[in-house]
Amino acid sequence: MRDIQEQQEQETTPLLFTNNTELQQQQQQQQQKEKANMIKKDAIFGTMTQIGLALFVGLIISVLVRLPYNVFIYHAVFMVAFVVLSTEGIFLLQPTSTPKEKEKGLKKHATFIGLSYLCAIGGFSAIMYHKAISHKDHFTSYHGKLGLIVFCFLLFQFLFGLTMAFIPNLFGSVAKAKSLWKYHRMTGYTLVIIVWVTAQLGIRADYIYNNLWSPKLMIGHWIALIFIIIGISGRVRLYKWGFSKGNNNTVVSRN
Ligand code: HEM
Repeated sequence: MRDIQEQQEQETTPLLFTNNTELQQQQQQQQQKEKANMIKKDAIFGTMTQIGLALFVGLIISVLVRLPYNVFIYHAVFMVAFVVLSTEGIFLLQPTSTPKEKEKGLKKHATFIGLSYLCAIGGFSAIMYHKAISHKDHFTSYHGKLGLIVFCFLLFQFLFGLTMAFIPNLFGSVAKAKSLWKYHRMTGYTLVIIVWVTAQLGIRADYIYNNLWSPKLMIGHWIALIFIIIGISGRVRLYKWGFSKGNNNTVVSRN
């Protein structure tokens, strides 16, 4: 019985390992090809995201320059900066795979997201003050209500990310904290979707819509949104979610 087993193993294994270096070379070439394809795809989706963001910012500026100066301007400026910086904060971290890339990416992510939070506080304070001095009711529109949810969600997401990255022992151990990254990723993508929905409702508020050069410019907002959705989705690494395997040369350390 054992002889038969050995014979069977001998018949199968040599085919795979006779020319080990050739096999390794083939694997390396395959990996390099996959990496080059990935870099190309990232560059295309990255360009789409940046064009979308630039169009979004440009269209809002085109309205703001037409408005009389008032405190509301600060809401719009800070919130646009918040939306752009938080999207960039995610965008930068998406393609990282090796521990070194992830470490660098985390620093940039923390900086962009930190700045975006300061902008959110500025934008939120500005609209609250604006409504108070103009004696208007608070949180009456869908935009306002969703904006409040964004603000609360932000605080949760911020504390979750900050403690996991910089005080991991709070979760029991570094390994336990690392195992929670995937939840931070899930809530992060959920939050950025809500942020964009809120921003889209904001640009459709009467005060902004009625001050567009032409209502036809709303098409520009749709184009910007489509570019951003495709750009960000195209850079998502499914293996980080556990849906597909990463490249063999990919080291996943923070999952
Ligand atoms: C995701 C980012 C944003 C958040 C979290 C946000 C949040 C808010 C909140 C909480 C209010 C209501 C405050 C109150 O009722 O006391 C509000 C009002 C308003 N926001 Fe934003 N905003 C954002 C982006 C924008 C953008 C990009 C614009 C357009 C340039 C905009 C335009 C307005 C306008 C016109 C109002 C007053 C009318 C209303 O209450 O709907 N917002 N925002």
